[in-house]
Amino acid sequence: MSNKVIITEVGLRDGLQNQPKLIATAQKLTMAKALIDAGVSHLEATSFVHPKLVPQMADAIDVLSGLKGLTQASDKTNVSVLVPNMKGYERAKENGVTSVGVVVASTDTFNLKNLNMTTEKAASVCQQIVAQAKQDGINTRVYISGACVCPYDGKTPVDVTLGLTEKMVATGADEISISDTVGGGNPQQIIDILTPLIQQYGADRFNLHLHDTRGQALAMAWAGITLGVRRFDSSIGGLGGCPFAPGASGNVATEDLVYMLEEAGFDTGIQLNALKAAGAVSAQVTGQQLGGSIYQWMLSQETLQKNKAAQESPCI
Ligand code: COA
Ligand code: ZN
Repeated sequence: MSNKVIITEVGLRDGLQNQPKLIATAQKLTMAKALIDAGVSHLEATSFVHPKLVPQMADAIDVLSGLKGLTQASDKTNVSVLVPNMKGYERAKENGVTSVGVVVASTDTFNLKNLNMTTEKAASVCQQIVAQAKQDGINTRVYISGACVCPYDGKTPVDVTLGLTEKMVATGADEISISDTVGGGNPQQIIDILTPLIQQYGADRFNLHLHDTRGQALAMAWAGITLGVRRFDSSIGGLGGCPFAPGASGNVATEDLVYMLEEAGFDTGIQLNALKAAGAVSAQVTGQQLGGSIYQWMLSQETLQKNKAAQESPCI
């Protein structure tokens, strides 16, 4: 089984959509550049959602055109966006997007709060977009949101997540992202959800999108790894949360995931040391103290080394 892991950095979308301070486009691009410089090859850059509901994403077109300038230098960056409906999809397509994510959550309550649609309607919108994207040659990912826990209705039965996933695979979605949107899941749920899916469809189609609200995300990611999953989302510094999922904190921190995977012999293509710089930029841009463990650990190592060098330098 391959040791290559694809990490999609979602900090620019999931990480910023809920920030209290409005982040300027230029600052988002500074973050993007630091991430690309660190070796990030997949970026979920923004979303084409209602700008009044999510003001942080109102500059989606400007972010995309700014990114074109950045990514020409390293053409290997794969840029995707999230679209909640056909209108968002059309806007993304007009702006040259080649990869979109669509969303359906596990319960009516969550879908109504997030998308103003029932689950049935949200699933049907996903199916329409996936079908249209196939004709347009655009890559699709379906987020099964609240796959472990719904922020309103509690624990999600495995069958509900499996049913929605099977429907989306049958529609022809290129990738399914099993998403623990509120970070309320546990590793056993990942095993229960993914084992039958991987047996039927193979591991390559599945991505894990894990929030770290209760500190379970890395254990859940590792459960995915042992089953053969090689695609994960993460957010620099663990930034994030969803305005429509109360109690959700950020995604698993990119540097924590990279550290765990690289230490365990996997190849993420991302340079941990360079993520320190990307973390510093993100902290400055958002004004937030970063979450996760590894960023603070890297800073403490830097301080230790400086102190050691100072002790070793000869006194004059
Ligand atoms: N982008 C921008 N504007 C949009 C839009 C989109 N994707 N979809 C609809 N609109 C506009 C319509 O043009 C209409 O505008 P008008 O009032 O000026 O005529 C208005 O929004 C209402 O349209 P409607 O189709 O009734 O949408 P809605 O009010 O039911 O909202 C969504 C539906 C999906 C657009 C909205 O719930 C949304 O943006 N949700 C995303 C939430 C999110 O980002 N969650 C986090 C990530 S999962
Ligand atoms: Zn999320």
